Amino acid sequence: MHIIETRDLCHTYKNNIDALKNISFIAPRNTRIAIIGPNGAGKSTLFKHFNGVLKPTSGKVLIRGEPITKENIREVRRTIGLVFQNPDDQIFSPTVEQDVAFGPANMGLDDETVKHRVSESLRIVGLSDYRTRVPHHLSGGEKKRVAIAGIIAMEPQVLVLDEPTAGLDPQGVREIIRFIHDFTVKYGMTVIFSTHDISLVAELAEYIYVMNNGSFVAKGTVAEIFSQPNLLTSVRLDLPVLPKLISSLRARDIPVEMGYTFQEAESAFLKAFGKDV
Ligand SMILES: Nc1ncnc2c1ncn2[C@@H]1O[C@H](COP(=O)(O)OP(=O)(O)OP(=O)(O)O)[C@@H](O)[C@H]1O
Ligand SMILES: [Mg+2]
Repeated sequence: MHIIETRDLCHTYKNNIDALKNISFIAPRNTRIAIIGPNGAGKSTLFKHFNGVLKPTSGKVLIRGEPITKENIREVRRTIGLVFQNPDDQIFSPTVEQDVAFGPANMGLDDETVKHRVSESLRIVGLSDYRTRVPHHLSGGEKKRVAIAGIIAMEPQVLVLDEPTAGLDPQGVREIIRFIHDFTVKYGMTVIFSTHDISLVAELAEYIYVMNNGSFVAKGTVAEIFSQPNLLTSVRLDLPVLPKLISSLRARDIPVEMGYTFQEAESAFLKAFGKDV
């Protein structure tokens, strides 16, 4: 049984915008899935269905095989942690500490455990010194990290991150990448994320869904999707710079193996120059 599944999910907003059209999606356990697509493709709308923020206009959302109901929604939100694209939709407590504690405290955990989870989550996002700060007065990137900390403090089985690195500085991006990687590799969890940062997709995703205009237009592994540059440009996306460079060299008969991540590309160039990898 899949931890998240949607079947022919459709969502029409009140203004008659068909934001999702027959979306059938599966998230297996212990994997990192990227959902990519241009502005307005429907990524955030889809994410809001994963933990019952929105209700399907038609079709189904199944969490561990069960539809989301009034009775199980608390349990669903404990299982599926959703970090919104806009942190202002999520942060509302007077201090950072209280905000991050809100989820775990609401789950009925004892004070000691809540305290521990708050410290650990703030450490992961690099905000240990921000406990008493007012979230409202934080910078955009700092707010984003508070929002992420608030969700990871609940220790969900699936983390759904809507543009997790948007607005973060380069070190913040590296910290989030490391965290997402560890979350799936060390703890066997599932992460679903959307991003416009195509190199982040290359570094992190194991599986990619490409969305456009409320539908999936392609799905596959990084190698499968990135070997179709025309597909990507047709939906306003692009290849990351490294595979783009390698493609251009290969087109001039310079024999460099294809690589999508920094590590793969580095090895490919070292090999091409006859150096030990
Ligand atoms: N609350 C709403 N009411 C009406 N229409 C909406 C609402 N939220 C989103 N939409 C519309 O639904 C479509 C999908 O929006 P959505 O936010 O899911 O896209 P997205 O893929 O997340 O885009 P982005 O990359 O800009 O975050 C868009 O056409 C958008 O204008
Ligand atoms: Mg969005």
